[in-house]
Amino acid sequence: MPASLDISFVSSAPLSGGLALALKEKDGEGFAGAASLDPQSVFAKAAATAKFTGKSLSTLDLIAPQGAPVDRLVILGAGKGGDLAAHDWLRLGGTALANLKGAAEATLFLDADGLAVDGRKAADLALGMMLRNYAFDGFKTRRKDEDDKPASLRIVIVTAAAQEAEEIFRTDALPVAEGVLLARELVNLPPNILGPVEFAEKASDLARLGVEVEILTEVEMKALGMGALLGVAQGSARPPRLAVMQWKGGQEETPPLAFIGKGVVFDTGGISIKPAAGMEDMKGDMGGAAAVLGLMHVLAARKARVNAIGILGLVENMPDGNAQRPGDIVTSMSGQTIEIVNTDAEGRLVLCDALWYCKERFKPSMMINLATLTGAVLVALGNFHAGLFSNDDALAEKLLLAGQDSQERLWRLPLGKDYDKLIDSRFADMKNSGGRHAGSITAAQFLKRFVGETPWAHLDIAGTAMSSPADEINQSWASGFGVRLLDRLVRNSFEA
Ligand code: BES
Ligand code: MN
Ligand code: ZN
Repeated sequence: MPASLDISFVSSAPLSGGLALALKEKDGEGFAGAASLDPQSVFAKAAATAKFTGKSLSTLDLIAPQGAPVDRLVILGAGKGGDLAAHDWLRLGGTALANLKGAAEATLFLDADGLAVDGRKAADLALGMMLRNYAFDGFKTRRKDEDDKPASLRIVIVTAAAQEAEEIFRTDALPVAEGVLLARELVNLPPNILGPVEFAEKASDLARLGVEVEILTEVEMKALGMGALLGVAQGSARPPRLAVMQWKGGQEETPPLAFIGKGVVFDTGGISIKPAAGMEDMKGDMGGAAAVLGLMHVLAARKARVNAIGILGLVENMPDGNAQRPGDIVTSMSGQTIEIVNTDAEGRLVLCDALWYCKERFKPSMMINLATLTGAVLVALGNFHAGLFSNDDALAEKLLLAGQDSQERLWRLPLGKDYDKLIDSRFADMKNSGGRHAGSITAAQFLKRFVGETPWAHLDIAGTAMSSPADEINQSWASGFGVRLLDRLVRNSFEA
């Protein structure tokens, strides 16, 4: 487990030794808390000698001379106050947490001249600390006391905006942190521990936050005619589940927003089996479902004033004597038939029934699905943008903006008739793969055949949900990508 993290806010703090951190605006006067931390200006002199300007995310680690009110001071460059966006406060928080230098307690002074710290900024910084503090180490048996890191951390944040910060932190930033960390944890968990049934139980846990949760079993999905989803699941010894979550925070008559996630708990490729090298990464093929669950947690925990549906298609894609074959033709819930030409193109088969079910049952005002859908999106965009596909320019625009705000970035890719033709089949209404060329686009075209007129967007997060480079706010294999993005979308565009 990561060290437990206790963050509190105070408007002033008595100094009694130990570690202090203090923000400094780039080229600004002094640093936060200088009056109490540095009565003799020795730290200020050291910083000037080191030519420390306060460049964004730079740090200066100073051991205190005798007589100073703290043992150690880390000055943290914040950059130019006027340029700081919400995400910069997250990064600052992450960098602060990374600079605890082994201490179990630290005091963090925020109110540097020029930064205009308010409750929101302070809470965002605290959120950055929570995100940075996450580590997936529950399966390491080396004991805590053999570790050089403390098992618990106590951070006291000093700012004049303490009261407002505390309120925003508790009711807003903390729920977001929980949602992101939940998504990361699910993606990191090994596939023997997290099967479809176990994942569905995680969805059921949201009931305690007031989310209505239904779990559909194989029998019910069969009755609904979900032949595409069930075809994927039939090679696995572990039965599939469809989790349906409803958060009713808006006006009763307002049609809901809907979020649908691909939850392939492990993707071997099935009979079209994947190569051995790197196959272990396919434990993360439920990153879309993890993001949707994380988002539903956030919306419920912060009591978002929206109606939202979350649907998770939970299956395992395995090869066995009962597995689906290339050449099989399945009938989806929509009635459209699908020729399976590659059993490794399974995500779209799971999603097509989940999307259709969602549209028919809930008549949502829009649907957004998230999926680790194609390797091709990694070829196109690497780890730095998720692929965005949409039949609705206004929705796409909103998503792109939310991507900029959250720095969970999206890049829009095209849809069109020519691409759609590539998945026409000789034997059925469509086939489940259009081949190598434009692989991410043909996958999106496939999904588009199941959304009707509903405004819809598909986010291909194969490159961003896992294995993304470590940064200020995430050091773990799983990123939790999509939770902050969609929370931001909901706030910006759908909450009054
Ligand atoms: N889960 C994979 C996509 C994937 C690849 C996710 C790498 C994360 C990292 C998906 O089910 C898949 O296998 N897609 C195939 C589709 C092809 C058979 C048409 C692919 O991308 O190769
Ligand atoms: Mn696959
Ligand atoms: Zn897959």
